[in-house]
Amino acid sequence: MIIEEINKIPNSFIMKDDLDFKYYVSGTWKKSSSGKTIGIRNPYNNEIVGTVQACTTEEVNQVINVAKENLECWEEKTQRERADILRKAAALMREWANPIGYIMMKEIGKPLKSAISEITRTAELFEATAEAGLQQEGEAIYGDTFKGFGKNKMSMTYRVPLGVILCIGPFNYPFNLTGSKIAPALMAGNTVVVKPPSQGAISPLFFGLILEKAGVPPGVFNIITGKGSEIGDYLVQHPMVNMVSFTGSSETGKHIAKIVEMKPLLLELGGKDAAIILNDANLEITAEAIVSGAFSYSGQRCTAVKRVLPMPEIADKLIELVKKKTMNLSIGDPEKNATIGPLISSKQCDYVQGLIDDALEKGCTLLCGNKREGNIMWPTLLDNVTTEMRIAWEEPFGPVLPFIRVHSAEEAIKISNKSEYGLQGMIFTQNIDLAFNIAQELEVGTVQINGKSERGPDHFPFLGTKSSGLGTQGIKYSIEAMTRPRVIVMNLSEKGKLVKECKYD
Ligand code: NAP
Ligand code: G3H
Repeated sequence: MIIEEINKIPNSFIMKDDLDFKYYVSGTWKKSSSGKTIGIRNPYNNEIVGTVQACTTEEVNQVINVAKENLECWEEKTQRERADILRKAAALMREWANPIGYIMMKEIGKPLKSAISEITRTAELFEATAEAGLQQEGEAIYGDTFKGFGKNKMSMTYRVPLGVILCIGPFNYPFNLTGSKIAPALMAGNTVVVKPPSQGAISPLFFGLILEKAGVPPGVFNIITGKGSEIGDYLVQHPMVNMVSFTGSSETGKHIAKIVEMKPLLLELGGKDAAIILNDANLEITAEAIVSGAFSYSGQRCTAVKRVLPMPEIADKLIELVKKKTMNLSIGDPEKNATIGPLISSKQCDYVQGLIDDALEKGCTLLCGNKREGNIMWPTLLDNVTTEMRIAWEEPFGPVLPFIRVHSAEEAIKISNKSEYGLQGMIFTQNIDLAFNIAQELEVGTVQINGKSERGPDHFPFLGTKSSGLGTQGIKYSIEAMTRPRVIVMNLSEKGKLVKECKYD
């Protein structure tokens, strides 16, 4: 079935032998000289989806060198040419969304519809990046704001690419969170090396085929596969890599930040997004947002709702509504679009179970769930969670939602801010003045008022504070992060000054 889906994509045979996928460098698909591959198993039924190459550090070095050598040819292209290529790539993504989405569903257990819409979302992101790139402007400033300088001194600033951008994405959005790095990097004139997540490595390989067909010259865009634990440190520290754009866990992100010296970093990491529910919230809308925010893709989203802090007057009613909606969630096969499907690995299930067990041992109330079959964990609601329990602070990346009942907005803000994470926060209320005031107190990148936490739409700025990240993503912000200003200062002669002062009759 997988092979049939892949064969729907023209020329995809060049990417693989049977289901053994190659890596992509200089416009060619290659097998690693290591002779080793990484098997990718479907987390739903443990069947092999395919294998990818376990590349060596020598191969990593070659790929990065190729990206460096091809910088000039790409930088020389006009903005218009690069934008046209991104648009062509977007059109191919739309054309091949179903088969690529199908493969992704198999390799990471994402519901089929969501997997397909991840591909079309990426197409839209490529189109919007092409548009945003064409809007880039520079600036010119006179020196006369400062004492001792006049209009004879002028700085002219425009942005230039950084060089080779290393793009590393997480398993939960293997296509979109790789594409959201590739598009701004290429639009800005950089060359690219992608290292996909091992679990979820196959779907991003299709960027090779897509970008080549769209017109990206060989060597400008390259993909290397291998385990992060084996080639990750070598990749990020490579002297020819000019920037690392990374999305993944806070643990890996912090490790990268420690070992990489004097290189721009864009890090989008974990979260523990809290929803503060005030007494006047519309509880139906709130419950709907909480359930969809907490449980889509089984809670495996950085922006999932990961804590609910309700006020006492509405806590019982809200929890009842959330429980009713949670009990109605579909559970099972991602191919049949069940909301709750498998977690990415049994190790991850063990971790989530550990959080549930700890909370139960410390006296929380189990409302539903706490059941497991294979890698599927039933959506679990925990009431009367206290700040002594691990689930109040740790990111489960699974379908478990704690309710920490609070007595005041101040207490909710305090618990919210005590987290090591600072991705997003939510406030549900009809009092917009109060919501605005609370929003200003929360130590997070984004506060959602009367809505679930989420990254999109993709032109919004997206960032985390504290352990949740470094730098800002979002189309125009990513382009800015992947470029630097080049400043040229004109020092005009006295004659220039005289011409300016000259009066015409
Ligand atoms: P992860 O384990 O940190 O892996 C992320 C990526 O880093 C993978 O491609 C991984 O490769 C690679 N990697 C591992 N060790 C590395 C090293 N030493 N150097 C360079 N790269 C290395 O994260 P994950 O489990 O895939 O994703 C889940 C986490 O990501 C959650 O914490 C979630 O909150 C976070 N996330 C954040 C955002 C956001 O935008 N804030 C979005 C999505 C996910 P291998 O797969 O080969 O190990
Ligand atoms: O997993 C982290 C992603 O950045 C979340 O994106 O809010 O669109 O699901 P999303």
